[in-house]
Amino acid sequence: MKYVIINGSPRRKNTWKMVEYARKNINGEFEEIHLMKEKIPLCNGCYNCIVESEEKCPHRDKVKPIVDKMKNADGIIIASPVYAMNVTALLKNFLDHTAYFYHRPEFFTKKALVVVSTAGSGQKNVAKYIDETIRHWGVNKVYKITYACGGKDEFDLKNINEVSKKFARDVESGKMHNPKLGDIVFYDVWKAMALSKEPIEADKQYWMKNNLTDYDFAPEIQLNLFKRIFSRAMFFILKRVIK
Ligand SMILES: Cc1cc2nc3c(=O)[nH]c(=O)nc-3n(C[C@H](O)[C@H](O)[C@H](O)COP(=O)(O)O)c2cc1C
Repeated sequence: MKYVIINGSPRRKNTWKMVEYARKNINGEFEEIHLMKEKIPLCNGCYNCIVESEEKCPHRDKVKPIVDKMKNADGIIIASPVYAMNVTALLKNFLDHTAYFYHRPEFFTKKALVVVSTAGSGQKNVAKYIDETIRHWGVNKVYKITYACGGKDEFDLKNINEVSKKFARDVESGKMHNPKLGDIVFYDVWKAMALSKEPIEADKQYWMKNNLTDYDFAPEIQLNLFKRIFSRAMFFILKRVIK
């Protein structure tokens, strides 16, 4: 199994220690990305990635190698401390550079582990934000480890061990989980957008090229009967709403 770790902390301390404890329960090859070292310039809002192609991002030389590592991995580990009740600017900047995945999701077969540390608060909301973001990328299942260190140099090892073992077992199983209803809604939104009268050309090409418009959800995932009906009903409505 291959794993990529994206470390959004500028240092290797609390959050990184949690990642290292988790890693002891995961067998495989690891690639580490320390965003602090990557020096990705700030997203300048040019919209090239969204409207034209991700290849047109002026910072593509920095972003593409990281994205390629994520594409090659079976499991993605994303770590961030809470900074001012959110992810670090380092991680947010990386997420801004990958915003096109909202329009053109492609990580349907990947599982992820989110690791968040904080001094006192915000850890659950920050983990939820990362979870929601990467499920928009298509990620099939997200596991979360959060901890409020509060000045202590100790961690909830029981929780770290339990969650990381579950994550590793799931990655190894290759099992594809049924998506949440919200994920299906977003799939249908982008599908309806791609098929609309005035689509974003890059999105249309992507959805068509990968035959995603032919499915109720990603082709790799077999929706249960209820979710298949739900997706069709959603798409029926959205097709009429999104002109
Ligand atoms: C700039 C900055 C902002 C922070 N904001 C918060 C915060 O909003 N809430 C909180 O409880 N802790 C906050 N912290 C504390 C860190 O989240 C906490 O110490 C974390 O474990 C640091 O992780 P690291 O050792 O991986 O850098 C902040 C720390 C820094 C440096």
